[in-house]
Amino acid sequence: MRPVLLLLTLFRVITGDQQSVTVDLISDFLLKLNAPTKINAHICWPKEEQIALLKRLSSSNFGCRIGNFNNISYSTPAEHQLFLLDLSCKGSEKILNKASELNLFNQPFRWLMWGVMDRSILDNFYIRLDSRVFIVEKTETDAYRIESPYKVTENSLEYSMNHVAEWNRIGGFSVYRELSYSRNRSNLMGLNINISYVVTNKDTMNHLEDYRNKHIDPISKLNWFIMKHLISVLNATSTPLFQPSWGYRDVNDSTKFTGMIGDLQSGKAEFGGTALFFTIDRIDVIEYIAPSVPTFMKFIFRAPPLSYVSNVFTLPFDTYVWYSCFGLVPLIFVVVYVIVVWEWKDPVFKEKVGEMHANCISPLRPSFIDVLVMELGAITQQGTDTEPKSNAGRIATVFAFIACMFLYTSYSANIVAILQSTTESIKTLDDLLNSRISLGVEDIVYAHYYFKTAEEPVRKAIYQQKIAPKGQKPNFMTIEDGMSRVQKGFFAFHVEVSNGYKVVADTFQENEKCSLKEIAFINLVEPWVSIKRASPYKEIVKVGLRKILESGIQRREINQLYTKKPVCHSKGSNFDSASILDCYAAFLIFGAGLAVSFLCLTFEILLHRKFKRLMSSNVVLNYELPNDDELAKSSVY
Ligand SMILES: *[C@@H]1O[C@H](CO)[C@@H](O)[C@H](O)[C@H]1NC(C)=O
Ligand SMILES: *[C@@H]1O[C@H](CO)[C@@H](O)[C@H](O)[C@H]1NC(C)=O
Ligand SMILES: *[C@@H]1O[C@H](CO)[C@@H](O)[C@H](O)[C@H]1NC(C)=O
Ligand SMILES: *[C@@H]1O[C@H](CO)[C@@H](O)[C@H](O)[C@H]1NC(C)=O
Ligand SMILES: *[C@@H]1O[C@H](CO)[C@@H](O)[C@H](O)[C@H]1NC(C)=O
Repeated sequence: MRPVLLLLTLFRVITGDQQSVTVDLISDFLLKLNAPTKINAHICWPKEEQIALLKRLSSSNFGCRIGNFNNISYSTPAEHQLFLLDLSCKGSEKILNKASELNLFNQPFRWLMWGVMDRSILDNFYIRLDSRVFIVEKTETDAYRIESPYKVTENSLEYSMNHVAEWNRIGGFSVYRELSYSRNRSNLMGLNINISYVVTNKDTMNHLEDYRNKHIDPISKLNWFIMKHLISVLNATSTPLFQPSWGYRDVNDSTKFTGMIGDLQSGKAEFGGTALFFTIDRIDVIEYIAPSVPTFMKFIFRAPPLSYVSNVFTLPFDTYVWYSCFGLVPLIFVVVYVIVVWEWKDPVFKEKVGEMHANCISPLRPSFIDVLVMELGAITQQGTDTEPKSNAGRIATVFAFIACMFLYTSYSANIVAILQSTTESIKTLDDLLNSRISLGVEDIVYAHYYFKTAEEPVRKAIYQQKIAPKGQKPNFMTIEDGMSRVQKGFFAFHVEVSNGYKVVADTFQENEKCSLKEIAFINLVEPWVSIKRASPYKEIVKVGLRKILESGIQRREINQLYTKKPVCHSKGSNFDSASILDCYAAFLIFGAGLAVSFLCLTFEILLHRKFKRLMSSNVVLNYELPNDDELAKSSVY
């Protein structure tokens, strides 16, 4: 049996019959493609040849199934699938029709066809730019050429060809070129593409390219430039369509979108020219392909002064320092008092006091009020007009004054710094909700949408309590109004940060820039550029946009159009006026003192009246008047 088979094989090799050459070519080419592959073969060969093909492929570890010409099926994953088709078989046209119907010429399926010289058979089909169809042709010199046809657009009359390989039976591949969409098919030869842009403000149309009014629709302007570059990368032309919004679900028909997404969905536009945020319902309708600009909407506000959240007058010292200070006051009092009492009891000292000149500083007397007044003089840095006259007393006084001076200096140095500092306590949306800061939102389409649809409790409360309270006008305003209120303080404005900082750079004082803070309301990934679903140009556009990004062109446009957060140059050296709020505690103490003194006054007046009445009713009062001796004593020191 064996010798017969061998002989048969030998005979075949020598005659080089068509099928076995094809088997060689297929197997060589699949090895060259070097990708995981499952094969469906639609061939009309004799059984032996089919078996030879299967054997050959399985020896190279490719699984292969022989299909019929009635219907077509594929295995998953689709990117492993490769179809073999003998075009010279009857019924091959049926397979082509079926494949076209089922979109099997699109990515990621691959095809290898051979068998006819007449290419016009393909003219009826739309083999897309993102297809991978290889056609084998025999040349005059007994070699085979592999080409890959594609149509730039459905209406193209002619196929473009990528010349992939040349092969002959003896030498194998004499030419082999890798096929990549982005490198070999990105020239669209002047194809006109509809690009849909979002323009939310009429003014944008006048300043699309002159970098003016950058705070209006910057993302539209940025993407306008990027799309221009992309179009030149693709050697295409474009027709812009302008829409007033990115697009949300149509109120009448929830399967449809409005705006730019509507254009992409209906196929009116191929690319979404203006980048947009990711939302779950959009992902079903369009494809996001490349990041555009890291821009976000946030609340911008000036951090309120520290006095807004805490009593600044207690802040300079640590709690323990305060305890020690309050400990020091009675301590000094007790020490000085004891010394003074001792001084006045000492007969030698009494004598000394008697010798004193009239213009000397008067000695401190051992009375509660006198010692207290001297101590108050020390604490408030006012000095005193009486002092103890003994050495012990002087040491105590000097130390009291020195201690108070150091406390006073550090306290006043601290309070100056603290009056100028701002609070860090507002960090989250929750803080914002519970603070006295009012909120406003830039009046743009998507802000309305995101605020109205916020579900999370804090965000919902923010919208309902602070942005659109029932029965009041909602706080949507223009960016100029909003930012000028931010400048005045106690106002947070929700705005696209770059736009906000543009206004800040134009209108804020240098020191007002220092306290700017941001809090995000919507947590989103940066906006991305989108494209129609299942677009044949997806791959080349993706690569084109990456090239624009990586070459730095995108960075240039971003720097031209977007304003960064202003740098704070003058932190600490600025002048801040202290408001009543800052001195709240001082005023409180003052007010309380005033109230107490009025109370005392009223009490005194009442008492006085009462005594007067008693006198006038001739009641004899038995006052024990002090005698003259005692009076004289108390007027002497
Ligand atoms: C192909 O045709 C066969 C019978 O002709 C049928 O059983 C099978 O389901 C068909 N497969 C597909 C994918 O249509
Ligand atoms: C595709 O382009 C690359 C780089 O330009 C080139 O090396 C390769 O041969 C091309 N392939 C085909 C099939 O034209
Ligand atoms: C770009 O497309 C035009 C057709 O509109 C074509 O004439 C030109 O050769 C193409 N440019 C390149 C570099 O291929
Ligand atoms: C929804 O339908 C109403 C009445 O049929 C129509 O007036 C309105 O313009 C439609 N809205 C949209 C967005 O198509
Ligand atoms: C492109 O836009 C024009 C009108 O602006 C429209 O007539 C045309 O049908 C659009 N192209 C496609 C492919 O939809």
